[in-house]
Amino acid sequence: MKAARIHSFGPPDVVVVEDVPMPSPGPNEVLVRVMAAGVAPWDAIIREGKSKVSPQPPLTLGSDLSGVIEKVGPGVTGFAPTDEVYGVTNPQFCGAQAEFAAAMSRMVARKPQSLNHVEAASAPVIAVTAWQMLFQYAEAMRGQTVLVVGAAGNVGAYAVQMAVDAGIQVVAIAHLDDEDLLRSLGVKSIIDSSKPAFEQDLPQVDAILDTVGGSTFQRCVAALKPGGKLVTSVSTQPLPAEAIFFYAEVTTARLQTLTSLFDAGRITARVGSILPLSEARQAQRMLAGAPHKSGKIVLQIGHP
Ligand SMILES: NC(=O)c1ccc[n+]([C@@H]2O[C@H](COP(=O)([O-])OP(=O)(O)OC[C@H]3O[C@@H](n4cnc5c(N)ncnc54)[C@H](OP(=O)(O)O)[C@@H]3O)[C@@H](O)[C@H]2O)c1
Repeated sequence: MKAARIHSFGPPDVVVVEDVPMPSPGPNEVLVRVMAAGVAPWDAIIREGKSKVSPQPPLTLGSDLSGVIEKVGPGVTGFAPTDEVYGVTNPQFCGAQAEFAAAMSRMVARKPQSLNHVEAASAPVIAVTAWQMLFQYAEAMRGQTVLVVGAAGNVGAYAVQMAVDAGIQVVAIAHLDDEDLLRSLGVKSIIDSSKPAFEQDLPQVDAILDTVGGSTFQRCVAALKPGGKLVTSVSTQPLPAEAIFFYAEVTTARLQTLTSLFDAGRITARVGSILPLSEARQAQRMLAGAPHKSGKIVLQIGHP
């Protein structure tokens, strides 16, 4: 089978699409015929050798996938061959950008009926990250106000949609180009982060959800009400003492929550550029800044 692999850490050029043996599902794993796999900033972190959780090369890139179960490993209950599933391969965030991938059964769920495989593969880590930021770590509730830093990004746009759906006010920190998108997601208050001293326009908020980091995040911290929650998904920065950083934990239960939200039309997936597996290296170049459509980059791999 074909897989997008790296044999050494480095720039996008280290990615090769090559033939490797098909994985076989271990205990509590399912073997998925991959229809689509997401491409994400943490793939670049892994490719560059900066991830604290991923293995040494050679390795197959990719964590998010959507596809059809081909086989189940020992101990798997609740899934069977031909089930359409979406989710994540494993806590090392590797192995999805291939024609077949082994995935831990506790990290996948039935694919939402309302999404095709490309849309479903775009969602798991970013949507679960947004859900955990908003509801688990910030404990945001109806009537509160949250500041979303990087609100038009992949994680940010889910956080915005989930907050609006839950009756939580959103203040979006974004680039002005993304104003139309944010208005379409229901945001009323948008602050342009390129404006000098933008932080002076911020209201006091109950929580800050940061997906950007660095000085943009630091300049927002004073907007937090006493006792408010400061949550970030960005690991590569010095953090204020009260900040909560976490790695997304994709579980069947959380994916089922997302499935309900997708199938009820309460959140939508935002897919950007779609490429074949043979262009996995180009997808990594897009992560590094090559032009691409706004929204999640997805590799379309198999055809149902
Ligand atoms: N901890 C975890 O488990 C976890 C899980 C998921 C993601 N992450 C991390 O979370 C971060 C966001 O991921 P993502 O997939 O949402 O990335 P993304 O789609 O690239 O989103 C980042 C967004 O922030 C915007 N942005 C960048 N600098 C900005 C600034 N100064 N002011 C306002 N907006 C700014 C970007 O706009 P432009 O595109 O216009 O620059 C983009 O819309 C990444 O660092 C990723 O590695 C961590």
